[in-house]
Amino acid sequence: MNAAVAGVIATNGVRIERDGDVAVVIIDNPPVNAASAHVRRGLVEALGTLRQDIGLCGAVIMGAGSSFIAGSDLREFGQALQDPQLPEVIAAIEGCGKPVVAALHGAAFGGGFELALGCDARLAAPRTLVGLPEVTLGIIPGAGGTQRLPRLVGVARAIRMVCSGERVPAVQALELGVLDGVVEEDLRAAACAHARMLAAQGARRRVRDLPLPVGDAAAIEAATRAALRAGRNQPAVRAAIDAIGLAASTPIDAALAEERRMFQELRIAPDAHALRYQFFAERDAARQPALAGVTARPIRRIAVLGAGTMGSGIAISALDGGFEVLLLDQDPDALARGRQRVLDHYSSRAHASRLEPGQMAQRVDRFAATTAWERLVEADMVIEAVFEDLAVKQEVFRKIDAIARPGALLASNTSYLDLDAIAGATWRPQDVVGLHFFSPAHVMRLLEVVQGRATAPDALATGLETARRLGKLPVVAGNAFGFIGNRIYAAYRRQCEFMLEEGAYPEQVDSALEAFGFAMGPFAVADMSGLDIAWRMRRSQAASRDPGARYVDIPDRLCELGRFGRKTGAGYYAYADGKDKAADPLVAEVIDAASASKGIVRRRLDSTEIQRRALLAMANEAALLLADGVAQRPGDIDVVLVNGFGFPRWEGGPVYWARQRGRDLLATDMDFLAALGGPGFDRGRIELLDKG
Ligand code: NAI
Repeated sequence: MNAAVAGVIATNGVRIERDGDVAVVIIDNPPVNAASAHVRRGLVEALGTLRQDIGLCGAVIMGAGSSFIAGSDLREFGQALQDPQLPEVIAAIEGCGKPVVAALHGAAFGGGFELALGCDARLAAPRTLVGLPEVTLGIIPGAGGTQRLPRLVGVARAIRMVCSGERVPAVQALELGVLDGVVEEDLRAAACAHARMLAAQGARRRVRDLPLPVGDAAAIEAATRAALRAGRNQPAVRAAIDAIGLAASTPIDAALAEERRMFQELRIAPDAHALRYQFFAERDAARQPALAGVTARPIRRIAVLGAGTMGSGIAISALDGGFEVLLLDQDPDALARGRQRVLDHYSSRAHASRLEPGQMAQRVDRFAATTAWERLVEADMVIEAVFEDLAVKQEVFRKIDAIARPGALLASNTSYLDLDAIAGATWRPQDVVGLHFFSPAHVMRLLEVVQGRATAPDALATGLETARRLGKLPVVAGNAFGFIGNRIYAAYRRQCEFMLEEGAYPEQVDSALEAFGFAMGPFAVADMSGLDIAWRMRRSQAASRDPGARYVDIPDRLCELGRFGRKTGAGYYAYADGKDKAADPLVAEVIDAASASKGIVRRRLDSTEIQRRALLAMANEAALLLADGVAQRPGDIDVVLVNGFGFPRWEGGPVYWARQRGRDLLATDMDFLAALGGPGFDRGRIELLDKG
């Protein structure tokens, strides 16, 4: 009586169906089957039924909907956890006396994957992903993941997987020995048959009972070093390595207890708190209640205008997102180079086996390059990425307006320019939106979706929906110079320049901010991106500069010396071999002279002051953006800085950081900065940082 369903017992979030003598335990907790308290209770009850019912020989645990269990319920993590906790559920599986098979489809992450590791076997549908992403949330797997995974894959591989939070596709997980099978057709039936087979063999296959595979000490050492380096010494990464080490040194029950203790300690520590905040801020960023009920326009073909660095990256991103892509440039040589960049990208991915030949062919088939403007008529959406010059962009938008079909979405990738002035060059400003990608556009997830004065709601909705299809993390920004990210970054860099003038040198500022956790200090970043573009921009805006604002001319002086950064072998640093940077006495001379010319007596600035002032400048600018409505929510600002500007994720973002200081201290800080930096710093706005 295969697949016959007899008797359905429903518990909160979990129901049991019978497939003959096998209990099929189905977790049903939409939207992603998080292992919430009521689900854990339901599972323990279901396992009690399995143990007691002599008509049942084993069980299958599976998820309803689109996933197995996508993880724990993060909202619970900020408070005391309710019983039964996950280790208790897994102990109930291991102690029930009958084989239990996990049938995985969709996502099996975190606590969900740990639950599966507590079962006797794991079968998965082909598109399943498994992984332990806990360290990305500042914690470690706390329900046996660090003890059971190494028993299946060895210590070195477990370190790699746990410390990176990597998501492993089913086929690869099967090769690693994490899965017992990948099932193309009826996963539930296969899992029931597997449970019956194990029951007939009369033995359990608990992972906890397996010996640890013999490890290669050099491989473990290498994996440890690589994980610490990549994890920038974060406490969770170090704890994960220590916990996995216990699998080799400590009896499993004691090791499980120690893993749990470490998990509990990390869970309430500041890093985990900040990482959870960032997780929720990212989830909320794309939510636009004002767009409820607004339908996005259908988009199939995207034309990318400008085949430079950004244009070719955007084309790759759109091809990966499943769109048909037309790349267009006015200059045939630039077009040929851009086209080749796209094709080279796919050949190298195919070469590194990161793309199957079929997938590569599909993408290349959907790709065309042309200098013929009239082909813009084929596009549902045009993304402009030509030179950053208002007159050029306006001319380009005039041409687009004359050719594009009615209703096509017209997007600009401008970094700083006035979107309304660009939209004003067309007869359809309602169709114009900003899509500000970050470089490299096919790698960076952040995307600022800029709403102009006339942007229609369905045009904005289309920008957001396209971002989602591109796998991006969209944040809506209002139209203002530099939008959210570049505007805050400019305020941060300006404050760092003030500090140069007052007594610090580039290497001190950079190392203080790198010690805070930035991937790179601001002057190393400036050298990498080049000092000349900003120099040109400053010169073109010189006449409109606020005479009351403090202006530091050190970067101008460096540019006058031909020091444009890395590309010229010198900028804030010297690059003798073209790669490694070194502090340069000549730069110190330029800086000393700049201070002297303003009568500033240089003083020593310590790391704490450097960090605090740089971050406060960001927080102040964040408050300004909120006051002006350029950013809708404080969390949006933190998402932008963390995902686009190397702000350390475990510090939450500049607004989160400022909130941790508290209002009173922040008010005093702002007075201090106002005294040093002139207009623009105001204690009156800081309450906006608490919004939302
Ligand atoms: P790029 O100089 O590498 O490429 C610009 C391309 O546009 C060139 O191939 C050029 O031939 C083409 N072009 C210029 N005028 C044109 C016209 N009238 N018609 C058709 N094609 C034309 O520049 P990049 O770096 O790719 O930047 C493009 C845009 O992206 C700019 O608005 C820039 O501000 C923005 N952006 C750049 C970022 C970066 O990191 N480079 C980051 C985010 C945005």
